[in-house]
Amino acid sequence: MPRSGNYSERKRNKMKEQLAKIKEEALAAFRAAEDAAALDELRVKYLGKKGELTGVLKMMGRLSPQERPVMGQLANDVRAALEKALEESSRKLEAAALELRLKAEAVDVTVPGESVSIGHQHPMNIALDELKDIFIGMGFTVMDGPEVELAELNFDRLNAEEGHPSRDWSDTFYFDTDSRVMLRSQTSPMQVRAMDTMPLPIRIVAPGRVYRKDEVDATHSPMFHQVEGLVIDRGVTMADLKGALNAVAEKLFGEGTQTRFRPHHFPFTEPSCEMDVQCYKCGGAGCPTCKGEGWIELLGAGMVHPRVLEMSGIDPEVYSGWAFGFGLERLALRRFKIDDLRLIFENDVRFLEQF
Ligand code: DAH
Repeated sequence: MPRSGNYSERKRNKMKEQLAKIKEEALAAFRAAEDAAALDELRVKYLGKKGELTGVLKMMGRLSPQERPVMGQLANDVRAALEKALEESSRKLEAAALELRLKAEAVDVTVPGESVSIGHQHPMNIALDELKDIFIGMGFTVMDGPEVELAELNFDRLNAEEGHPSRDWSDTFYFDTDSRVMLRSQTSPMQVRAMDTMPLPIRIVAPGRVYRKDEVDATHSPMFHQVEGLVIDRGVTMADLKGALNAVAEKLFGEGTQTRFRPHHFPFTEPSCEMDVQCYKCGGAGCPTCKGEGWIELLGAGMVHPRVLEMSGIDPEVYSGWAFGFGLERLALRRFKIDDLRLIFENDVRFLEQF
């Protein structure tokens, strides 16, 4: 017994020493750890399954039953102390890392910002929006339609029959050899589309692209924009046409703007006319803006031809209407004092920035 007693006592003392040494070493190491990864390695080293503390605990079996709980308690105290120190170190490292990140990511809110340049509308859209506003204010609805159109709607239903000069291949972009599908050459087929789909009375404007086989120059382009207008109701007369279009001219060019209506011919209106406005620059005396004429041509118009109404199933004895169509480019060029149509379509930012 004394022998084994001595043996056990030596073991016990040895274990105590080991525990104390582990504790001291571990605490120092935890405090010195430089980052979370290093700290984790130390955790495994001292507290892991194969760690130093576990190694000592494994030797508990060699102690006498009376000594085991005492040593067990001691070992648990060491474990608790290590865990607490580990946690403290970990919190300190985290705080330090956060501090570093905040410093690195600091934003100096007093540095002046970079200015962002925001684009704006194309002059054509500005002109179109002004026009839409005028017509919407007069009770018109804005209508949109296809640029690829049936020749039937672009010509036949507008009373321009087979053989009409505007149907010629040299003027029109057809898709097929029998000339049935085409790029619309005017927005006027929108009149037919309105009559075919809308309940009466009708009051629409239809802006959009149109296409003709024209060479590009300062005043021509194979693609340009028109705005079509159509009014159909009971008892509509030429006086309504003139009154409404005079009001539009005043809104566009200022109160008191003088207009004149000249007889003309369009297949889908009868009578037909062209409307001019007195030159807003020279007041009619003649100047470069009006090319010495005193008047500027604005649009084509007329009373909807009874046959056009009939083809759309509208009784010309009960209903009548007036229509107009004009080129939007001309209006925009005048509005912004641009002298070459090509500038409108080249999309050179140096030009567009000016509006
Ligand atoms: N579509 C005609 C053109 O392109 C313009 C036009 C004239 C439209 C008279 C109309 C109108 O609605 O009544 O030249």
